[in-house]
Formats: sequence, structure tokens, C-alpha cells
Amino acid sequence: MGVTCVIGLQWGDEGKGKVVDGLCREADVAVRCQGGANAGHTVVVGGRTSILHLMPSGILRERVRCMIAAGVVVDLDVLASEIEQVESMGLSVTGRLMVSSRAHLVLPIHRRIEAAAEDMLGDEKIGTTMRGIGPAYMDKHGRFGIRVGDILSTDRLAARLDLLARLNPMAGRAPDLVEEMMDYCSRHRDLVGEIAGDVEHDLGMSIGRDERIMLEGSQGFLLDIDFGTYPYVTSCNTGVHGLVAGAGIPPSSVDKVVGVVKSYMTRVGRGPFPTEMEEPYHSLTRDAGREYGATTGRPRRCGWMDLVALRYSASLNGVTSIAVTKLDTLSRLDAVKVCREYECSGGRTHAFPADGRMLERCVPVYGEMEPVGDVEGISRLSDLPAAGAAYVDMLLEAAGAELEFVSVGAGRDAVLRARH
Ligand code: IMP
Ligand code: MG
Repeated sequence: MGVTCVIGLQWGDEGKGKVVDGLCREADVAVRCQGGANAGHTVVVGGRTSILHLMPSGILRERVRCMIAAGVVVDLDVLASEIEQVESMGLSVTGRLMVSSRAHLVLPIHRRIEAAAEDMLGDEKIGTTMRGIGPAYMDKHGRFGIRVGDILSTDRLAARLDLLARLNPMAGRAPDLVEEMMDYCSRHRDLVGEIAGDVEHDLGMSIGRDERIMLEGSQGFLLDIDFGTYPYVTSCNTGVHGLVAGAGIPPSSVDKVVGVVKSYMTRVGRGPFPTEMEEPYHSLTRDAGREYGATTGRPRRCGWMDLVALRYSASLNGVTSIAVTKLDTLSRLDAVKVCREYECSGGRTHAFPADGRMLERCVPVYGEMEPVGDVEGISRLSDLPAAGAAYVDMLLEAAGAELEFVSVGAGRDAVLRARH
């Protein structure tokens, strides 16, 4: 298997958690590479739903070693409670989870700064998850961020915190800011002592031993800081480039890129969304697909499949296969529309525009498809109704990739696997 990357090709919430969990049956190591606790990866095992924000979904498979790599911004409060949550399910975490000492911290001040920034943006606000992600990446790129390993170098920590308090333009002048940050660091020093390590070295050794490594993406490519619908994006690279950079592995070691494609589009937060559905399909899809944010509980905006966006995401990431999710949700609708191109500035285009305002003005050119047909309880790909199979073929053609699997329900087993 070598190194497999799993990425979302839409605006997140494609069902990556379930896809990674499935692929982890054959993995030795699972790695979170970018983003932070803004992610919400839902996996249903034995009827029990787990939502993971920071740990790789691989943690639910006991023989898989798990890593949180340098590119992730880590909120230790969230991580500590997630470790408790997983251990309460009877799964061991200690000795199986390592966090890169190079990863940056999300501190309580980052959440406060984010709330203030969103407030100041008024009508222009992004609609973030309020997990402090943007401000933590700003400190990192400003080069006054605090890293996981800093917590253990007690002689340097106070100076680093002091620098942050002075250099962060939005830190304000709260007199007890440094003490507050020091408290947070002290509170988690034992945990960090147990789990911090040289993830990058360890991954290099794993690659050398030809172990099977799964790089687990979070968010989706259309939320990528460079290639997404800027400024309505998250603060890191969410595609295959972000995974490789975040994990610190050689790009040449990647031999498989799995793109996860939900059968329809969703988006949480603000920003352009050309194929957003009208009623009654919007509510029908949201209810049938339980489209509420796993991190914030916000209702997700729902839309028809956008092949312009899919071609763009698949092509920039060089996906080798796709996993199609939630075909069962689409099968509940009595009509199916698909956007094949955009009408924009008086002409038709297949290109996904770089400018968000331009994307806002694009009108989808739809084709009607047959309703997908009943897919409940199906266990083999060959049993898909003809219209469902045609829908999957259309996605494969747009992505220019092979099929990994089609998911037709929430549970681990509701998966139609392609053999290749
Ligand atoms: P942030 O990542 O919290 O800064 O939020 C920036 C944008 O990305 C907002 O529109 C969020 O709703 C969206 N976002 C961030 N993480 C996720 C995710 O895991 N799933 C879906 N949307 C996300
Ligand atoms: Mg999610």
C-alpha cells in the first residue's frame, strides 16, 4: 500500500472519516496532517457514533499507530478530552498516539481573537468554526507561534509566550495573558511529555520499512487557503500538497490519492456556492443526509453535484481513485440535477474561476439525471440500480479516476467495494 492520501474534493464533510476508517483495515499508521479541531470526522462503529476532531480516525482500529503531524494546529484541551472519549470506549490510546513536537498550539487567546475578528468583519465574516484555527496559523506564519515541544523546554517557554503577547497585533493588553497561556501549558505538560515526539523521523522509518501509511485529510479542497474559494476558506492547504507538507514526507513516497466525493454538495459557513439547492430539495437533502455540522452543529447548506468543481479538485490533486459517499441520501430524492458547466459573463465555461466574486456570478448549466433508485441494503456494486451506477460512472469520468468504493449507509458495512 505505501502511502495513501485521503482528501475531500468538496467543501468538507464528504465522509472522509468513514473512508479512512475503511482503508485503515489495511493500514499500519494513520496521520492527521493539517487543520485542527475545526474538523469533525464522524465514524459509526457497531451502531455507536464517534466524532473525532483532532485524532486520526485510525484511532478506532486498535492495531493502527496514530500520529498528529507538524502541519496540524493542536488545541490540547480538545485533545485531552478526545483521549478520554476514546479510552471510555475501551480503546487504548497511550503508546499508540504521537504528536509532533513541531506542531503549533491553539491557545485560548486564539479563540478570543477569532471571535473579535469575525465580529469586526460584520457582513464580510467568514463563518468559521470558532476553534481558533486562523489566529493560530497567523502566529505560526508570523514566527512567534508556540509549538508543542516548547511546553517541555521550561527555560524558553516564558520568553516565547512573552514574545507572542507583544507581537500578536490582536492580543490586546490583558495583564494576565502570559499567565493564562502559561497555565494552559503547565496544565498539559504531563500529557505532552507522554505523547510528543519526532513524528517526522518515525514516519521516515515507517516508509523505510515499507509500512502502510494513511494520510488523513481534513476539510475539503474547495476550502484550501490557496486554491479554494478565498477568502471563504480555512487557513491551510487541504489538498494532497497540504498533507505531504504537513506530514513532512517525500512527495515521491505517495502512491495513491483517494478523493472523497459526496453524492451532492454541502457547505458550512459563508461563501459562493453555485449549485445550492432550492426548496423543497434543500430541506429534503439536509434531513435525509443529517447535514448538520459535526463540530458546530450548524445546518449545512446543500446543493446539486457540481462537476466543474469536481474536475478542478480531482485534477489539481491528481486523484487516483474516488470514494463516493451518501448515495443513499441522494436516492431519497425524486429528481436529480447535475451541473456540467457554468454560464459566466455571457459565455459557457468548464473552468473553476479563481475569483470568488466571479464564481458568485456563475450560473450552473444543469443536466437532469434519472433518480438514483433504491440502494438501501445493497451489498454488491453490481446490484446498484442502473441509474445509480450511471451516476457513479459520471463522477468517475469527471474525476478521471478509478472507483475505491460507494457508500450507501452510515455503518462500517454499508460499503460497496470495487476490486482493483
Ligand atoms: P475555520 O477553518 O474554522 O477557520 O473556518 C473556515 C471555513 O471553513 C468556514 O466556512 C468553516 O465552516 C469551514 N470549515 C472548517 N473546517 C471544516 C470542516 O471540517 N468541515 C466543513 N467545513 C469546515
Ligand atoms: Mg466534518
